[in-house]
Amino acid sequence: MIFEKIDKNNIPQHIAVIMDGNGRWAKKRGMRRESGHRAGRKSVKKIIESCVELGIKNLTLYAFSTENWNRPKIEINFLMQLLLLSLKDELKNLNKNNIKFKTIGDLYQLPKKIINYLEKVKSETKDNSKLTLTLALSYGSRNEIVNVVKELSDKVKNNIISSKNIDETVINDHLYTRNLPDVDLLIRTSGEKRISNFLLWQIAYSELYFTKKLWPDFRKKDLYKAIISYQNRERRFGKTSEQVK
Ligand code: FPP
Repeated sequence: MIFEKIDKNNIPQHIAVIMDGNGRWAKKRGMRRESGHRAGRKSVKKIIESCVELGIKNLTLYAFSTENWNRPKIEINFLMQLLLLSLKDELKNLNKNNIKFKTIGDLYQLPKKIINYLEKVKSETKDNSKLTLTLALSYGSRNEIVNVVKELSDKVKNNIISSKNIDETVINDHLYTRNLPDVDLLIRTSGEKRISNFLLWQIAYSELYFTKKLWPDFRKKDLYKAIISYQNRERRFGKTSEQVK
């Protein structure tokens, strides 16, 4: 079985996923795009379950990008309703499985009802420690970096920090992801080989894994395959092969 092939001593600490292909999955079946998103929710559940089983500490899912606000209003509304429903359904499970829930992105753009519920789920799971599940919502990496620049320039102007002390750690500490480790493995489904404005700073040294599977078809064994591919790569971080050995 493929599960046995995973080296349990070399599990990625942080996996990020661009969940793509819900619309195409539905279209192939002659269904509306919304059915694809509904089916995608099942994959989300399975992958979270799998991360808990494998002892992965951080899972970050790209659920809604800043660019997704340009989709038809009816689809945006559906995605917001699905998010609210999922949060309501899953709160108990998050606590049962010791999962801490977080978000990254410009939440203020979301409907108030959803912002309130997101805050409730975050606060009621904040002491959990097995897995940190982060949803990227109304998230765009360039926008995140612009916000860091604004915040740091205000701090320089007000003499809170000196520009000569700005380094990579300071920038890291001002990103939405400030308390998360760097991404080890980035997965994108549906055959597209792009990053689409997701975690540009944080994936500097990530291993990238692309699969043709559409997100609603992505199951535990597909995650195992991605992890095995990650484990077969040599992460050199700019060093030579001999140095890392
Ligand atoms: C990309 O597929 C998917 C999204 C924009 C939304 C992600 C939402 C889910 C996986 C639903 C459940 C998730 C939560 C967190 C409740 P696409 O619509 O861009 O697909 P396409 O490229 O085939 O059109």
